[in-house]
Amino acid sequence: MKLFLDTGEIREVEKAAGWGILDGVTTNPTLIAKSGRGFQETVLDIGELLPGGAISAEVVATEYDTMLAEAEEIASWHEQIVVKVPMIRDGVLLVKTLSDRGIRTNVTLVFTVSQALLAAKAGATFISNFVGRVDDISGDGMAAVAETVEMVEKYGFDSEVLVASVRHPQHVVDAIRAGAHIATMPFEVMDKLFNHPLTDSGLQRFIDDFREAGLEIRAKAKV
Ligand code: G3P
Repeated sequence: MKLFLDTGEIREVEKAAGWGILDGVTTNPTLIAKSGRGFQETVLDIGELLPGGAISAEVVATEYDTMLAEAEEIASWHEQIVVKVPMIRDGVLLVKTLSDRGIRTNVTLVFTVSQALLAAKAGATFISNFVGRVDDISGDGMAAVAETVEMVEKYGFDSEVLVASVRHPQHVVDAIRAGAHIATMPFEVMDKLFNHPLTDSGLQRFIDDFREAGLEIRAKAKV
């Protein structure tokens, strides 16, 4: 599974990129607005921190011609950029246009397998199934993820299923179980993936026992 960070904060990207397991970053208009910085500068700074990583940057227009102009502008910023497009009628047509031109797309605000089918048929590179916002209204957001993975595999679409709107590590576990290709998540959630109390206590016991036996590893000084 690929792991993406869902953020507009440079410092969070820097930290997560330092773990060596980050495959990409997704932004959205709200996250960019929250960053307090410019859209293009933020996206390009993120790309600098994650060479080769997929960086999703979203159009904000909702009418095809303007969406296309925005998409062309965003895509021109850097080859790492994936143009993020909302799951609306003009958005599906835009994905078809961009896909035909070889421009990668991430269809966002997807909540059902039928919406995901439309995105896949248009040639979406990533299909962002939102789970947290469904759970937030007492629904089962992950159900549509499992259906979307099954649909993409059944019909042989190239689209990758990206689990978005992740609220906690259990969403990542469930995304793995559903066979999703990517999970994007806030920094706090990715940071929590490392944690387990038995890891902490087990490591401390290893260190204590080794030291108490008077043992050491004489690492050769680097010349
Ligand atoms: O950026 C797309 C998605 O992950 C945002 O979800 O519900 O945290 O705003 P949410």
